[in-house]
Amino acid sequence: MVRNFRFLLFLLVAVLLAACTPERLQRDEMLDGTYEGLGEGRGGIIKLSVDVIEHRIAAVRVLAQSESVFAQPYIDDMISRVIEAQSAEVDAISGATQTSNGVKSAMKMAIDKAYGRSIANELFAETQTDVVVIGAGGAGLSAAIEAATQGAGVIVLEKRDFIGGNTNSSTGGINGAETSFQKALGIEDSKALFFDDIMKGGHYLNDSSLVQTLVDNAPSTLDWIARMGADLSDVGLMGGSSVKRTHRPKGGLAIGPHLVKVLCGEAVGKGVEIRTGNAVLDVLMSADGKACGVRVGQSGGPDYTSWAKAVIIATGGFGANLSMVSSYCPQLSGFSTVNHKGATGDAFPWVEKFGAELYQMDKIQTHPTVDVRNSLMITEAVRGNGAILLNREGNRFVNEMDTRDVVSEAILGQTKGTAFLFFDQAVRESLSAIDNYDKLGLLVQSPDLASIALKTGMDEAALSRSIQRYNGFQSCGEDADFHRSSVQMPVPLAKAPYYAVEVKPAIHHTMGGIHIDSRARVLDKQGRPVEGLYACGEVTGGVHGGNRLGGNGVADIVVFGRIAGREASVCAKRE
Ligand code: SIN
Repeated sequence: MVRNFRFLLFLLVAVLLAACTPERLQRDEMLDGTYEGLGEGRGGIIKLSVDVIEHRIAAVRVLAQSESVFAQPYIDDMISRVIEAQSAEVDAISGATQTSNGVKSAMKMAIDKAYGRSIANELFAETQTDVVVIGAGGAGLSAAIEAATQGAGVIVLEKRDFIGGNTNSSTGGINGAETSFQKALGIEDSKALFFDDIMKGGHYLNDSSLVQTLVDNAPSTLDWIARMGADLSDVGLMGGSSVKRTHRPKGGLAIGPHLVKVLCGEAVGKGVEIRTGNAVLDVLMSADGKACGVRVGQSGGPDYTSWAKAVIIATGGFGANLSMVSSYCPQLSGFSTVNHKGATGDAFPWVEKFGAELYQMDKIQTHPTVDVRNSLMITEAVRGNGAILLNREGNRFVNEMDTRDVVSEAILGQTKGTAFLFFDQAVRESLSAIDNYDKLGLLVQSPDLASIALKTGMDEAALSRSIQRYNGFQSCGEDADFHRSSVQMPVPLAKAPYYAVEVKPAIHHTMGGIHIDSRARVLDKQGRPVEGLYACGEVTGGVHGGNRLGGNGVADIVVFGRIAGREASVCAKRE
């Protein structure tokens, strides 16, 4: 709180100072000198100073930061990238996007000062457009692109200083069955099997019409993002899925940062206006009960109204609002979260006046494998590519590829409520996302089982026995202990070095939210659509039922984002 307040105060002062800078002081090149910049990282404020010598960024010093010790190499890496590019417009590092974005924001502020540019966001006054999208994560950007493609004028409002939301940290991939990418790899799948897996994984609590919509639209949606430049060529397995259907970039790179970059480029190319630092305060209702715009608070300027013919809510879930999580799900009190700070559930009070139904709010998912020291999620794809889970005693205790609720519960039942995710070099080489965990210092690495047992405290004899037994199951394709299927045991764990990371479950996805129909229209408590109001992505409830399958979060945001954008543009044309 205090940190945030100090940050806001500093920003305000910076904005006021910048506002006093006459336009004519803007330069084509950086003026030599030392400039300071601030950004918001994962742990709080990042403060940097930038030395400009002969109009080039010569050196950067970190003056203050509250990131974890594990993030230091990433800060250094981002600084090197900016120096090399001589610009803050560089890619964030997947697996450390919040820290990366904090460094980028701080560098941008300093560089803008060196150019004599105003560092204030552009200030906005009353606006009128066709479609307003609230939230610039994967759902909001998908909605904006589709609405703009249909000819609508679109403004995206994002409360944070950077775009992407939780999509930035999404890793495992995006699900779809009967996709062109599966076909190219000879993977046999069917929409019916995909539907059944989702319903079974969700304990049949899902809204089946939403599931059907997700399943039917996934293949064309994957083609849609691929046409924009997304690489979905690596198709892997996630828990609860019968076959490989989780699509991600070549080599097993994280999907999230890649997708955000692709969607953002497309949105901007289609003329979508994205306003960061513009926080929606309320959705406005006309006298006849329709959504007609939003009230916006902007950093450094007065609140304003953006009138719109249709409003799309794409604000994400509430997994970072720990008091809201425990009010709906008291058993999760005290759990940490892997959510970005903006996932605070702001939208729910806005839709009360429309009589909107909040659906399955108590359905909150934990991710089983979150690094105990740093609350960083280790993607389920690591298990999908062959990793196992061992308890402190060195024994397996669950089918590691079961659904997240089952695996989370099993880990919590072990000594100290944690487990070790264990894998070998072959698994590591199969998934580039693991390189980031290594860079972050999350992995215990050892050339043999004896030393990994020593470093983790696992019983050496039991560990060796467990690995030998698992490798036996892997070679005959039958797991007599926990019934992991042969496709879920792709490789023996036999190639040194070996890796382990201690994990425990943390809050991951809030599966409940605003009830929508398969046209992404917000439904009221009587099941009637609210005119002009749409919602998509994690802010909605019903698609995932009691438990979401890995890879369906990203599918959900893009499929329903597109639908919301299309429907909102049709609504706007009607008005
Ligand atoms: C993961 O990569 O394990 C998370 C992806 C998801 O929740 O779909």
